[in-house]
Amino acid sequence: MDSIRLRTLPHFFLALFLTFASVGRASAQDVGSAPDVSKEGVVPGAAAQAAPAAAAGTTTGDAAAIAAGDALYKGNCAQCHAINEVVVGPALKDVHKRRPISWLIPWIKNSSKMVASGDEYSVKIFNQYQKQQMPSFALTDAEITSIVSYIAAESEKPSQVTAGGATAGNAGQVDGQEAAGAGAAGTGAGQYVDLLLIVLVVVLIVLVVTLVIIANIMGDVLKGRKDLDGRDVELLDQKFDFSKIYKSNLVRGLAVGLFVLVVLYESVQGVMAIGLDQGYQPTQPIAFSHKLHAGENQINCAYCHTSVYKSKSANIPSANICMNCHSQIKTESPEIKKIYRAIERKQPIQWVRVHNLPDLAYFNHSQHTQVGGIECQTCHGPIQNMEVVYQYSPLTMGWCINCHREQPLNTKGNGYYDNLVKLHDAANQGAAFTVSSNGGTECSKCHY
Ligand code: HEC
Ligand code: HEC
Ligand code: HEC
Ligand code: HEC
Ligand code: HEC
Ligand code: HEC
Repeated sequence: MDSIRLRTLPHFFLALFLTFASVGRASAQDVGSAPDVSKEGVVPGAAAQAAPAAAAGTTTGDAAAIAAGDALYKGNCAQCHAINEVVVGPALKDVHKRRPISWLIPWIKNSSKMVASGDEYSVKIFNQYQKQQMPSFALTDAEITSIVSYIAAESEKPSQVTAGGATAGNAGQVDGQEAAGAGAAGTGAGQYVDLLLIVLVVVLIVLVVTLVIIANIMGDVLKGRKDLDGRDVELLDQKFDFSKIYKSNLVRGLAVGLFVLVVLYESVQGVMAIGLDQGYQPTQPIAFSHKLHAGENQINCAYCHTSVYKSKSANIPSANICMNCHSQIKTESPEIKKIYRAIERKQPIQWVRVHNLPDLAYFNHSQHTQVGGIECQTCHGPIQNMEVVYQYSPLTMGWCINCHREQPLNTKGNGYYDNLVKLHDAANQGAAFTVSSNGGTECSKCHY
């Protein structure tokens, strides 16, 4: 019986080893071949890389105009127009082919005049876009021409893919492919880490199983031997006894101790967190996104929070400020219609307040933003990346005080501080003149 088992054992291990070796090699090959596969697969990357090069090659003379047009377009037109899709106004792809420049210039300068003059195309497109008026732009002819050449260059981008492949020759193609290969390798690596982890886990499980099998077989082999003494036999027959562990006082003591510690820790944390709202992120009545406005569209914080540099509190903008843009932008969006409804009903939008210090504390925005020169993000976090605002800082007294202890005051060129700084430096050599040196940690500064 034993001898049969023993003879099959090496075969079993050999099979196991071969399985692993092949799985391992397969996954290694996958990693290695990822860039190869993508070389043919990921064409868009290659096209995007090659297209500007090709465009620059054919139209070098216009490069400066295109760059200028790019800036003008982003500054004046991008909030209503995109190249390939309808935003507020029509998609501008190939507009230079649709309309002659002699039409485009007067249109962009004053579209309503064109419509009023009865120009057939102007009236048609005006009606087609629900009679929305495109604003007039005080741009020069040259500026408009540069915008149009930018639009022309952008329009050609997708079609350049095939043209580039046919005519640009090998150099362009190789460049593009290498770039695409590198890009795909980057994403590929992430994918294969997962795969490798799975393979590792499987390997570990199989290893444990094999070890258990080996231990059993060794036990069996040893039991077959006659020359063992009493102690060895006892060891061999030993079974793992869970109840012994369970009954042990030491283990019980440890468990109770651990439990008490966890409960204590949690309750202390809970008590300390009373009145702490860090991370508070209420749902707002309108899906207003700081990421979209302050981030992507780079609208200045003070455009909406108009009093943040001037007074104690940073105001929340009224619906009128929204209307500066949204009388034109996204007028059909259900979220924007909520703004119109609030205005019709003459009721303010009911924003939910996020930050709220208790009444006993005094905090002044202008003191920190205008005088102290502290960025909004230092206290409010990456607002420009937040879809929905949340409270980033703890707003505890310790938080205020810690900054006041460390933050050096900007005293340069401010006559008010000259003597104070001199006195401070005389008394504490070398120590920085911080907010607290100026009394920023006195209770009465922050408490009424
Ligand atoms: C506030 C939104 C808005 C802005 C900003 C805007 N447009 Fe327009 N644009 C429109 C609308 C709406 C139309 C459709 C015609 C209409 O309703 O008057 C239009 C139409 C056009 C057309 C005609 C398109 C076609 O298919 O024939 C051109 C060209 C154009 N805009 C260029 C520009 C340029 C260039 C700028 C920037 C300098 C610009 N627009 C800025 C809203 C805007
Ligand atoms: C287009 C207008 C607009 C711009 C630009 C804007 N905000 Fe706001 N902000 C709002 C509105 C509306 C609210 C109220 C709704 C909300 O909390 O999302 C708000 C809320 C906030 C709040 C939370 C106020 C509270 O209830 O405690 C903070 C903090 C804030 N904004 C900071 C900033 C900062 C910093 C910037 C610049 C990076 C900025 N905002 C740019 C409109 C704007
Ligand atoms: C300076 C111009 C400007 C101001 C002021 C402004 N917005 Fe916007 N808003 C935009 C632009 C640009 C977009 C993006 C439109 C797009 O996605 O094409 C936008 C998009 C939005 C959207 C998303 C609409 C959708 O359906 O995708 C909402 C909601 C919104 N704004 C609400 C507000 C509110 C509320 C205010 C006032 C507190 C406000 N906006 C003030 C320019 C502005
Ligand atoms: C030194 C930290 C700090 C800086 C810097 C700061 N804030 Fe605040 N902000 C706060 C605190 C604290 C509150 C809560 C005030 C309260 O409840 O009285 C707050 C509240 C707000 C509110 C809600 C309305 C209000 O005044 O209570 C807005 C909006 C706001 N901040 C916007 C801004 C913007 C925009 C900037 C940058 C220009 C900025 N904050 C810079 C700490 C700061
Ligand atoms: C990121 C750093 C920072 C944080 C956080 C901060 N402050 Fe300040 N604070 C300053 C600076 C810098 C000044 C000094 C401005 C100046 O006068 O140049 C200041 C000044 C003050 C002053 C005036 C002190 C004086 O000597 O006149 C008060 C009051 C104050 N802060 C209250 C608060 C409160 C309340 C909080 C917490 C809710 C807070 N601050 C959080 C940096 C901070
Ligand atoms: C830099 C500003 C600042 C200074 C200086 C300061 N505090 Fe505070 N204090 C605060 C803020 C902000 C809160 C609210 C914190 C919160 O809500 O968690 C607070 C809360 C408190 C509370 C707790 C009240 C409650 O109901 O939880 C007490 C008590 C207090 N402060 C006493 C003092 C004393 C005493 C001093 C002087 C030794 C002092 N504070 C100095 C900003 C300050």
